[in-house]
Amino acid sequence: METRLPAVVTVSSLQDSLERLDEIAGLFRDQGLLVLKGHKFTPVEQLTIVAHLGDIFNWNICTDAVSTEPSEETAEAFLFYAGHSDNPDRSVASADEYALGWHIEQVFYINSVLAGTWNMVHFDAPPKAGRTYFADSTEVYELLSERDKVFLSKVVVEWDKPIGPKTGFGPFYTRAVASHPISGRPTLRLETDGGCIITPNLYKFDGEDPTDKQLAKYKRLYDWLRFELVENEGLRYVQDWSEGDMVLVDLFRMYHAVTDGFTHNQRIIRGAFLRTKEYNSDLYTSMDLL
Ligand SMILES: [Fe+2]
Repeated sequence: METRLPAVVTVSSLQDSLERLDEIAGLFRDQGLLVLKGHKFTPVEQLTIVAHLGDIFNWNICTDAVSTEPSEETAEAFLFYAGHSDNPDRSVASADEYALGWHIEQVFYINSVLAGTWNMVHFDAPPKAGRTYFADSTEVYELLSERDKVFLSKVVVEWDKPIGPKTGFGPFYTRAVASHPISGRPTLRLETDGGCIITPNLYKFDGEDPTDKQLAKYKRLYDWLRFELVENEGLRYVQDWSEGDMVLVDLFRMYHAVTDGFTHNQRIIRGAFLRTKEYNSDLYTSMDLL
């Protein structure tokens, strides 16, 4: 099977990227995933291109928030450094295993995470190590039968997962399927992370307590989803990182995972999560909030 790769936009400078903003925004809108290659964006440059995209997509990072020419201080305030390699004690598994399992981004927030910009500012892991896998949830949804689509549209799940290093905010109550904010397409939003304290369970079906039959059907569909993410390579986009790659990803719809095979500080990302312009960090801690 041929490996699916994220769309690539080769750019020579910030100016070049800004001149091709329509192309970049179009790829983000249509495919939900692209990588800018060929130019190593400084923090200020990264924030600048993101802010211009934010003007198009109504993100919290936009030129109103950070100006058209942000300062270095502003860039430091809006961008974070991470990369799953910052723990000096991390034990390293092979590049075929997962460093971070399949998940959808922070669906406990009422104001969802809409996108991420991940710039690999340092990468010296071995080839094929520390890859990021993506799977488009709107595409996964289309694999379901019509009956299963209708079934999942009526599902509210109860689940819990630590937020950052903290626990005790949940449980959370979220819909299995949500409408994509750009395309309006149905999008599976079931958290699949093995790090959940409570794995998403069927809580209400069509507003009612579920029957045993509905519980069993839900369990089958949830297991199917996890199986598809791990086993269906036809769904998968593979980002094999080179230093300087800057990914732009629609995190409302892209399940993602990271493979292992790298050691401490071999992989450093400078990133930002994008939310809607006016957002808060309220959580889905009650059914009433749905
Ligand atoms: Fe993530």
